[in-house]
Amino acid sequence: MPDGSKLDGSSVIVRPARGVRGRVRIPGDKSISHRYAMLAAIAEGTSRFQNFSAARDCASTLDCLEALGSKWRRAEDGAIEVHGVGPRLRTPTEALDCGNSGSTMRMLSGILAAQPFTSELFGDESLTRRPMARIIAPLCEMGAKIESRDGGRPPLKIHGGPLKAIHYRPEVASAQVKTCVLFAGLFANGETVVEEPIRTRDHGEIALRAFGAEVARNGNIARIRGGQKLGAIEARVPGDLSSAAFFLCAAALFPGSELTLPGILMNPTRARLLDILIEMGLKISATQLEEHHGELAGTLEARGAAWKGATVAGADTAALIDEIPVLAAVAPYTENGLEVRDAKELRVKESDRIAAVAANLRKMGAEVDERPDGLRIPGGQRLHGAELESFGDHRIAMAFAVAALRAEGETTIHGANAAGVSYPSFFRDLQNVASY
Ligand code: S3P
Repeated sequence: MPDGSKLDGSSVIVRPARGVRGRVRIPGDKSISHRYAMLAAIAEGTSRFQNFSAARDCASTLDCLEALGSKWRRAEDGAIEVHGVGPRLRTPTEALDCGNSGSTMRMLSGILAAQPFTSELFGDESLTRRPMARIIAPLCEMGAKIESRDGGRPPLKIHGGPLKAIHYRPEVASAQVKTCVLFAGLFANGETVVEEPIRTRDHGEIALRAFGAEVARNGNIARIRGGQKLGAIEARVPGDLSSAAFFLCAAALFPGSELTLPGILMNPTRARLLDILIEMGLKISATQLEEHHGELAGTLEARGAAWKGATVAGADTAALIDEIPVLAAVAPYTENGLEVRDAKELRVKESDRIAAVAANLRKMGAEVDERPDGLRIPGGQRLHGAELESFGDHRIAMAFAVAALRAEGETTIHGANAAGVSYPSFFRDLQNVASY
């Protein structure tokens, strides 16, 4: 907490800052960590991951995998080692707890659909509200039987078995759905094809290749042949760009701020954020580029300058889906504001992120136009500190900690421990770079 003062287990006070300066080591990317862990579990041999995500969500994935027979441990150097059991997992003795993690439930389902046993997946209250029909439909088309509640909500009961390949055209642009179907396709008879409406992050394809599978890609179409074997890998997970987004936006709030973020993921299907921030006026340079198992990473240096507005719509909305909460939270401080369109998916994330952003901004005194599929937030506004809610959503807690740095007076964020879902050390890291 930038003030250092925690009120109780989960409320944090954020004081206005004068600027941000320094170096932040951002934890490993959550999307890549989930995929690496799942593929390591069904590979031959023991995989080893440096800078594996510290997120509670990824711990949920590791715990589910352990219940399925794949042991993991944290080595002395901090690396996570996952013992692969090959394609046939162990029948779990209990229901699998996915916690708050939609990624765990959706992507693991692709593997479980192919197992010769029945498994149950459940999650917390937020996850229990999230739509799963988007993975149930393709997996059932491939031959699995899946029971759910209320037309596709968790808990899920997956009766796995032999799968047949399909050509799937998802209605929603979702990398979780694509990855789920490709993971199932690894076990299916024939070649599985996923044709996306808009190209989403390609970590699933890249991770499958890293573990030795062939995945063909042509535009928005990915293909995988069933029956391919995976081998263990040693990898370093790049820093999570969606977590870095909070610090980049914090730097953008204060002309003259300077932040260095080493080893950040720069995969082109995620890096649209950097273009938008540059268009908005943040000075960003990327150096020391390196590739780790097909994923690009580099050191980002960000300097705050004038801070204009932006419009996020269409394919950009899908590319920036996890960063829209923080862009929206800081939008009132921009010159011309922010317009977000085509973002109704934001209503079915860990919280209804459109409603959560609008409610918190209004509490800080901002004018906001909330729309069914987005937001319009005028620029040039002054905000005051307020009592805010995280709505149990990690990205809302962190987005408003950043917005609070430029407000007049203190802000209290209730339910701030939600941040641990993706970034447990966030408030400490923010405090370390903020100056008062
Ligand atoms: C993710 C994809 C996105 C994103 C989520 C992580 C992934 O979700 O919001 O945080 O790792 O594939 P959708 O697939 O629902 O768009």
